[in-house]
Amino acid sequence: MNAPSTARLERDAADLPATPDYDAWPVDVDIADVRHDRHQLTLTWQDGRISRYHSVWLRENAADDTTVNPATRERILDLSCLADWPTLTDARLETNGAVTLTFAPENRTLSFHPGWLRAHDYDNSPVHDAPLVAPQIWHGADRQEPATLDAAGWMDKESDVADVDPLLEQALETLFRDGLVRLRGLPTQPGSLDNIARRIGPPRPTNFGHLFDVRAKPDPDSNAYTSIALPPHVDLPTREYQPGLQLLHCLENDTVGGDAVMMDGFAVAAALRERHPTHFATLTRVHWCYANTSRTSDHVWFDPMIKLDANGDFNEVRIADFLRGPLMAPFDDIEPAYAALMALQRLLREPEFALRFSYAPGDMVIFDNRRLLHARDAFDVSQGGSRWLQGCYLERDEARSRLRMLWRAKRRATLSS
Ligand code: OGA
Ligand code: ZN
Repeated sequence: MNAPSTARLERDAADLPATPDYDAWPVDVDIADVRHDRHQLTLTWQDGRISRYHSVWLRENAADDTTVNPATRERILDLSCLADWPTLTDARLETNGAVTLTFAPENRTLSFHPGWLRAHDYDNSPVHDAPLVAPQIWHGADRQEPATLDAAGWMDKESDVADVDPLLEQALETLFRDGLVRLRGLPTQPGSLDNIARRIGPPRPTNFGHLFDVRAKPDPDSNAYTSIALPPHVDLPTREYQPGLQLLHCLENDTVGGDAVMMDGFAVAAALRERHPTHFATLTRVHWCYANTSRTSDHVWFDPMIKLDANGDFNEVRIADFLRGPLMAPFDDIEPAYAALMALQRLLREPEFALRFSYAPGDMVIFDNRRLLHARDAFDVSQGGSRWLQGCYLERDEARSRLRMLWRAKRRATLSS
């Protein structure tokens, strides 16, 4: 056991042990004291925090090459192949701030990075699988426009995934917070959306293409490709895994009408839960049919309209009246389901939720397609002009990975400065 130390430790980050990942872990607080018994390590940090770690957890999260493949940093250790439950026979604090542990039954000595241990302090984490950025529910009536960033010149700069990028970082943080962010001043060349989207991650192709053109077309295969108004909806609820993000990039817009209307589907769901709890419960339970059939494809999926995650937080809404197929539900659920649906539809028309704005060429919105509802006013092409958006889908996973990479790049920059 080591005596508590209040002295600031001298270290070179490069001296610290490897971690089982590719990330950078600044040591903001040093370890003051290390204690252990066979099953548990207890660290006291210089700021007084006490963190406990189980021996089995520590053993599997070691970073040596019996535990992770150094080429991939993926685990190669199978805990069940050890001769016995991993326990601690020794624990000591190194002069560089690392913790070195000896494990039985292997009699293996492994060192741990203090910044990594602090960042993975499950003993003091109130929520263990918290979202990267906490969503904040909003009401359109409280805002004039979506959170907007000026992206003029942004696409002219070279971009590498290892680089810091304050604009993209802010965009993604806003996206996770509000479910919606607008970038302005982007290029307006047709197809440039592909490169823009790839700054986050690869677009998800669908039967509408990997980029789709939203404009009035002669032989439309979607109401979106006409000039009629679209009610608040999510896209592709007809898929088992509804796309997480949608990007809409304005190339041309000089027609009359065609304003965008967006609302936070989680705000609508929260209002339904508060005002009509029985209808809310019905919409989290009954499986609606979502159908998108065309001459060449036939997508059908059944799911509830509102989905909660394991913590009871909103995870997804599937609201798209024009993409609902025939309800196929237990006989006694039919009337309650329609009553709940209509209560929800009435809420969608209430002005408190909607945020209205217009697109200028070079604008692009990124929104969470499993949270935000988007709609548009009808537009009139008979008096000339055109309205042309290009769109694509990405997954939330891509945006989360990209944001983690941006945070990693920022931490690395801090460490090397
Ligand atoms: C769509 C859509 C909105 C718009 O293409 O799915 O909803 O503003 N478009 O045209
Ligand atoms: Zn749509």
